Amino acid sequence: MKISERTEKFSYAIRDVLTVAAEVEAQGHEIIKLNIGDPIKYGFKTPKLLTEPLKYAEEENYNFYANSQGLLEYREAVALYENGKHGVNITADKVVATAGVSEGIQMTFMAFTNPGDNVIIPGIHYPSYSGNATIFDTKIQYYKTVVQENFYPDADHIRSLMNDKTKLVFVNSPNNPTGSVYPEKVIKEIIDVVGEYDACIVSDETYDGLILDEGLKHIATAKIAKDVPVIAYNGFSKVFLAPGWRLGYAYLHDPENKVEGPWEGLNKLTRIRLCASTPLQKAGAEALKQDLSSYLPETIRILRERRDLMYNRLAEMEGITVFKPEAAFYIFPVLDMKQFTWKNDKEFVFDLLRKKHVLSVFGSGFGPYGENGFRMVYLPTLQQIDDAMNRLEELLNVSRI
Ligand SMILES: Cc1ncc(COP(=O)(O)O)c(C=O)c1O
Repeated sequence: MKISERTEKFSYAIRDVLTVAAEVEAQGHEIIKLNIGDPIKYGFKTPKLLTEPLKYAEEENYNFYANSQGLLEYREAVALYENGKHGVNITADKVVATAGVSEGIQMTFMAFTNPGDNVIIPGIHYPSYSGNATIFDTKIQYYKTVVQENFYPDADHIRSLMNDKTKLVFVNSPNNPTGSVYPEKVIKEIIDVVGEYDACIVSDETYDGLILDEGLKHIATAKIAKDVPVIAYNGFSKVFLAPGWRLGYAYLHDPENKVEGPWEGLNKLTRIRLCASTPLQKAGAEALKQDLSSYLPETIRILRERRDLMYNRLAEMEGITVFKPEAAFYIFPVLDMKQFTWKNDKEFVFDLLRKKHVLSVFGSGFGPYGENGFRMVYLPTLQQIDDAMNRLEELLNVSRI
């Protein structure tokens, strides 16, 4: 039997590099892994404010099927948390519990787009957006995000891509893979552009609580969107350090009911997978009511220290342009390929892996504007980061033309 066409077209760069990494490991080499955005793999611990309520949820027999949309207490906790923390104005009936943000993204594509519709996504983006667009046969248009402009979107470029077939416009701030936090002005401009069309903003706010620098602030798109519809996502994978929980949520801001139909469709779709995990929703509801200061400031302090080391080392390397990430745990340096022997970012990443045993992800896997770039995580220890940067520097020095 042949693989389905939609599956055959689909690829996922972040995980594709692993096949070559396995070959290198099989030859007996130890790899410094800078490829995956999972803090737990690097020794970070899920905070007690999540793990304790999970024990309680089990004891209390929260092991039944929840409502498909989500436990009411979970959705209420999400609404309270988002309203309080981000100044949005949502109610529990506009919240859906999902198996991670990933499921929210997939359901949005299913409920909002038909084959041939347009979606507009960042030129360098989290690959789930383009992956889902491919699977659901939507046409992708990429907006410009370049290192010289801090990877911030350009609303005029987005305007030039919009048309009557545009259904969704994705914004992702703080951003994976670039670490940039979009200024409020930029988000406002995007809202204005989208408001001129019958389209919906999708705001992926997965890293909202991981801003590393004083003076920077996460702005929830829904807070400033006024009458423009916004679907926002968040979850427990990053800020709450529990990626394996697979728990997240989507919420809708749509004061004029412009996307009532597809949103109801999304709710209907939740029934096909019965529900998101019930004990985790119960524990998540409890966690959202807690003060995060028991672990979050320390997590941010550690990330800042690691970010600073990796950034400072990269900034000194000739032939690399690097933006200092403002949030999350990714950095996206860009190579001046003319100075080196590699043809492209993919060749470079595989060379770094095979010759120096450092695993990163090639930039073009994150979209056309990612060409010549590569993504690394700064989650490992300072020692490992320093070691990896030494190896990278050695490779650059022997690969100059
Ligand atoms: C921007 C962004 N959105 C969504 C996800 C997926 O999150 P989840 O684990 O909640 O499915 C990730 C994971 O890396 C991400 O970086």
